[in-house]
Formats: sequence, C-alpha cells, structure tokens
Amino acid sequence: MNPAQPLDAFNRPIRDLRISVTDRCNFRCIYCMPREVFGSDFQFLPRAELLSFEEIERLARIFVGLGVEKIRLTGGEPLVRKDLETLISRLAAVPGLEDLALTTNGSLLPAKAEALRRAGLRRVTISLDALDDAVFRAMNDAEFPVARVLAGIQAAADAGLAPVKINMVVKRGVNEDQILPMAAHFRGSGHVLRFIEFMDVGTTNGWRMDDVVPAGEIVDRIGRQWPIEPMSPTVHGEVANRFRYRDGLGEIGVIASVTQAFCRTCVRARLSAKGELFTCLFAARGHDLRALLRDGSADEEIAAAVSRIWGVRRDRYSEIRMAETRPAERVEMSYIGG
Ligand code: GTP
Ligand code: 5AD
Ligand code: SF4
Ligand code: SF4
Repeated sequence: MNPAQPLDAFNRPIRDLRISVTDRCNFRCIYCMPREVFGSDFQFLPRAELLSFEEIERLARIFVGLGVEKIRLTGGEPLVRKDLETLISRLAAVPGLEDLALTTNGSLLPAKAEALRRAGLRRVTISLDALDDAVFRAMNDAEFPVARVLAGIQAAADAGLAPVKINMVVKRGVNEDQILPMAAHFRGSGHVLRFIEFMDVGTTNGWRMDDVVPAGEIVDRIGRQWPIEPMSPTVHGEVANRFRYRDGLGEIGVIASVTQAFCRTCVRARLSAKGELFTCLFAARGHDLRALLRDGSADEEIAAAVSRIWGVRRDRYSEIRMAETRPAERVEMSYIGG
C-alpha cells in the first residue's frame, strides 16, 4: 500500500472530494430542505463559521496528496457563496487535481457560467426535476420558472462547461409523469440526463420506500418509448448506470442508490462548509478539520489525521438501509452537499 494514499477498512481509496461551500440555498426542494424545517427562522451557519477560501485550498492540496483526483463543489447552492470564482481559480491551480466540477440548481448560472469557466471550472451538474412549471414548483417549493434553469443549462453549454449533466430526483406521484418529457427534451441535446432515486438522506424529508420510483422502472419506461442499451461504466466509482439510445441520440444515467447500492466502490469524502470531514452521505457526524487548520497544525499533521479517519472507515449505509440496525441519526444533505 502506498502510505501516502490511505485505504479504508474495505480497501477503498479516497479519490473524490465533495466540498460544501455554504449550507444556504435559494430553493426549498421537498426532498432536501423542506420549508417546514428550513423556514425563515432557520439558523444557517454564520459567516465566521465557514472555511475561508484559503482554508479550503489548503485542505484541497492535502487531500490531493492523499489520492484525491476530483473535486466537486456543492452546497446548499454553491453559487450563493460570494466570489466563488476566486475559489475556483485557486482550486484549478492545485497540481495533481484532474477534475473540478460543480453541482448547482442552475438558477444563477445565466449570470455566472462564463466567469466560472474563465476561472477554471471544467464541468457542471445542474438539478432539474421537471419541465412543467407547476410540477417543478411542487418539487422545489420556490417561485422559479423552468425557463430560467433551461437558460442556465444553455449558458453552461455555451461557456464550454460540457458535457452538462442534468440531475432529476424522481419522487413517486409528484414528478414521475415528467420522466418521459424530460427524456424527450434532452435526447439529442448533447446533455446527459440522470434520474436519481429519492433517498433518505437527513431526517427531515419524510422518506418512505413507497415514494421511490426504482431505477429499473425508469429504465423500462424510457426503453419502451425509445430503445436503449446499457453502456460500460467509464470511471471507477461512478454512481450512475449509463444507457445509450440505440438511435444514437445520446445517453441517460440512473443513480440507483436505494435499489442497487454502490457502497463497494465508494471513494467519496465530503467536507462541510465549516470544515468537518464526513466519510458517508448518511453519517451522523463529521470530524472537525477546521480546528486543526486553526490551531497551528502542519499540513503533514492534518494529512495524518485524515489518514487515520479514513483508515477505519466502514461506511456502507445504502447496503444496510433496510436493516434494523441502520443508524437513526443522519446529517442533512444541504449541510454536506449531494
Ligand atoms: P460525476 O459522476 O463526476 O459527473 O458527478 P456528479 O455529482 O454529477 O454526480 P455524482 O455521480 O457524484 O452524484 C450525483 C448524485 O448521486 C448526487 O447528487 C447524489 O444524489 C447521488 N450520490 C452521489 N454520491 C453518492 C454517494 O456516495 N452515496 C449515495 N447514496 N448517493 C450518492
Ligand atoms: N434524494 C436524492 N437526491 C437528492 N438530492 C438532494 N436531496 C436528495 C434526496 N433526498 C440531489 C439533488 C441534486 C444534488 C445536490 O443532490 O437533486 O442533484
Ligand atoms: Fe437547494 Fe439543491 Fe437542496 Fe434543492 S437539492 S434545496 S436546490 S441544495
Ligand atoms: Fe458511499 Fe455512504 Fe453512499 Fe454508500 S451510502 S455510496 S458508503 S456515501
């Protein structure tokens, strides 16, 4: 084993670091930040609690030294963090980092795509759960026209942030009637549409298995309309199962974290906006790296601490979701990003 690149208890390296830059968002998606919980009196992290761009860059360098190849910025909504371009240009300059991406709800992209690209961002993933405005509102509980997200997608493509990936969370009875219209819209567009099974992240979204539309069903519905065939996975640890349209009009993906867990190849670490390391999307709590950043610890000491944490990692929540012993306490997704 390369001592500089820790493996966890199941021999999984760290390859992918997802950094949440804010816990705030301008949407209130029912599966992520339900308004009853994230209302006007909700206490978001005060600014002083957030890692500074210098601190994020320092951690990024340390994680790249430990094996990370890909960094994805998330939130909340990452584009509500002021001057995000400045952070992107710092991260784009980190030697050894192969991929720098961003997950966004797209609302601010028309204004920002070009500047993000110029700062060194390579790719974006944009969440869009419906083409119909009323269904979109039922999913995100915000007054925001679909047309503006579509404009954000176009702005990203025009800026060269391609291929653009579109994430659609599917919730039974709420937006499942949008599966075919979304597929029809993005077929042949050059963008990659991915359907995500509604997950029980956090404890506030009222998740029930009955609300999940299994990926197998989504694939069947699309395949009946337009013949598709499976593609081989491209990157180790990629979470989407990919299918191509037989007529050559592109591909779709399904992220079946509920019905087909992919923990075995999970190489993802997550950093909260205040600098806690989470080793699983479903973890109850994180490990405070900010304290080390601020107490004079050297980079080597922080790297050693991360290696120790990763070395004992045994997370595989999606594989044990249905077991009686599954943990009841879980961090909210808006706190550590998708
Ligand atoms: P790329 O594959 O680099 O394009 O990344 P991406 O963010 O576009 O997609 P990714 O495949 O990383 O994640 C898409 C969605 O899959 C996330 O928003 C989550 O909903 C889900 N997801 C990602 N990582 C995990 C994970 O580790 N566990 C679970 N259960 N779900 C995940
Ligand atoms: N289940 C599945 N996906 C979710 N996301 C947020 N909450 C959930 C959930 N409960 C996805 C969003 C977005 C990304 C940030 O995470 O659709 O694409
Ligand atoms: Fe905001 Fe994204 Fe969560 Fe929706 S899924 S509330 S857009 S962070
Ligand atoms: Fe990784 Fe945890 Fe998701 Fe499994 S449930 S894939 S261990 S983040």
